[in-house]
Amino acid sequence: MHHDIADFIQIQSQCIERELSRLVPEKEDPSSQLFEASRYSLLNGGKRLRPLLTLAVTQSLDGSASIALTPACALEIIHTYSLIHDDLPCMDNDDYRRGKLTVHKKYNEGHAVLTGDFLLTYAFEVLAMCPNLSPEQKVQLISILAHRSGSEGMIGGQVMDIAVEGKSICIDTLHLLHRKKTAALLTAAVEFGGVISEASSAQMIALRKFGESIGLAYQVIDDVLDVTKQRGGSAIGSDARNHKSTFATLLGIDKAHVYAQNCYSQAMSALESACDDTTLLQGLAQFIVQRKY
Ligand code: IPE
Ligand code: IPE
Ligand code: MG
Ligand code: MG
Ligand code: MG
Repeated sequence: MHHDIADFIQIQSQCIERELSRLVPEKEDPSSQLFEASRYSLLNGGKRLRPLLTLAVTQSLDGSASIALTPACALEIIHTYSLIHDDLPCMDNDDYRRGKLTVHKKYNEGHAVLTGDFLLTYAFEVLAMCPNLSPEQKVQLISILAHRSGSEGMIGGQVMDIAVEGKSICIDTLHLLHRKKTAALLTAAVEFGGVISEASSAQMIALRKFGESIGLAYQVIDDVLDVTKQRGGSAIGSDARNHKSTFATLLGIDKAHVYAQNCYSQAMSALESACDDTTLLQGLAQFIVQRKY
């Protein structure tokens, strides 16, 4: 990894961490457990890719990084809710995430559902209260987040994911599923950067293409890692246990890597029409396809 991008990731991740901690503080009142469980899942070593994408797009389009930080964190809050619910026994039934107990194992299922519900709702409150954005920009961000995490996006993808469990599906169906369940929210992250830095409509179109391609690559690699990497101490991957069709099962590991690489190339050609200096976003995109965790 190029040292500039490593620096960017390290420095910005610290800002994201601090902002998340500020947005979801510790509380000493009857709802303290809600905040405790929220902090347990939020401040638990995620890669912060979605907020990092927003910050990288903003920087690449000469927007304000300090204005972008709070909306970027709203994306991480939605992402965290989606993982808490994804791990539930009625979904993927995973006991560990990032090497620690999942929220329903650490607390209980009721608390996990409610912590997810809270984070989902709170993300929109965070956007509505964002400082230094115009009312038009806030409405744009709120609609993007709602659209990308709703039936056309992440939730639509999760519905497909459980509907096809145990079934053999074709690559086109899997492609659509992954575009919705994962690429949609990564596209939102890229679009956030565009809105915050007041990108032109031509730039927005290019940014969306970049987001969709790199988002698809991200889930392809996630599928590969589910097979190749021992996650959270379980010997068998969650996908295999749940009889999921994935890019790893449909294509095999090597072809899945080639597929991700093709997505990367498509992302790179889209980027050319989005900004003059593509170094930072190219670095982040490389990190995505080369990631080992
Ligand atoms: C995992 O997301 C679920 C997917 C949508 C691929 P990440 O790999 O971004 O999870 P963390 O937040 O970095 O752990
Ligand atoms: C989850 O996909 C995507 C979400 C929208 C939450 P996975 O089920 O593959 O994510 P991991 O592998 O559990 O992180
Ligand atoms: Mg899942
Ligand atoms: Mg899962
Ligand atoms: Mg997975």
